[in-house]
Amino acid sequence: MNRIKIAPSILSCNFLRLEEDIKKAEDAGADLFHIDIMDGHFVPNITIGPMLVEQVRKITSKPLDVHLMIENPHKFVEDFIKAGADIITLHVETDRHIFRTIEIIKSKGIKAGVTLNPSTPLITLEHIIHEVDLVLIMTVNPGFGGQRYMDVMDEKIKKARNMIDKTKKDIELEVDGGIKATNAKKVVQCGADILVMGTEIFHSTDYKKKIQEVRNIISD
Ligand code: DX5
Ligand code: ZN
Repeated sequence: MNRIKIAPSILSCNFLRLEEDIKKAEDAGADLFHIDIMDGHFVPNITIGPMLVEQVRKITSKPLDVHLMIENPHKFVEDFIKAGADIITLHVETDRHIFRTIEIIKSKGIKAGVTLNPSTPLITLEHIIHEVDLVLIMTVNPGFGGQRYMDVMDEKIKKARNMIDKTKKDIELEVDGGIKATNAKKVVQCGADILVMGTEIFHSTDYKKKIQEVRNIISD
């Protein structure tokens, strides 16, 4: 089994101490950093943009996993690529010509991901799954950190795993929302390769201890 990756979501960082938090999480064993971009239209929250991704790029060499929760993402992918994103993940609900946007991302040598809100059926990925490097399953309604994991999404993760395996392509399955030490093993057993963890890490007193705790649990 491939090594499960831990992707701290910086949405839950103390933004007044962002550099310190990111460096601490990197030292604690983060494999990549999940960066939530929100526009206040697709989701009821506004966060950060390419400018901040550019600043984060300067302080870590870990892959930057940019999750676009914005309308018309095609207008902004080039800005996020320039800012240093390594993975750009789009919501299928936000882009009428997602095939084209995925092609643009990949043409720049950047990994392309797709994601869907909890209620959006996996069938929407049927004709694009072969084109992406990553599928992100949302296990909360997007917009905020610190929400409860939606157990009803277990089946969707398992189905996404099967869908990916049938393609016989190297596509990573990332799961995002409400993941804690208490449910991480179950999420991995459902088929996740990458666990996004925001509050569980950045609201803990010892990032290294927390990430090690999760690693021990999932490797048991
Ligand atoms: C929610 C974001 C998630 C969130 C995860 O819209 O996409 O990445 O930051 O935070 P936790 O792990 O606290 O649910
Ligand atoms: Zn996210």
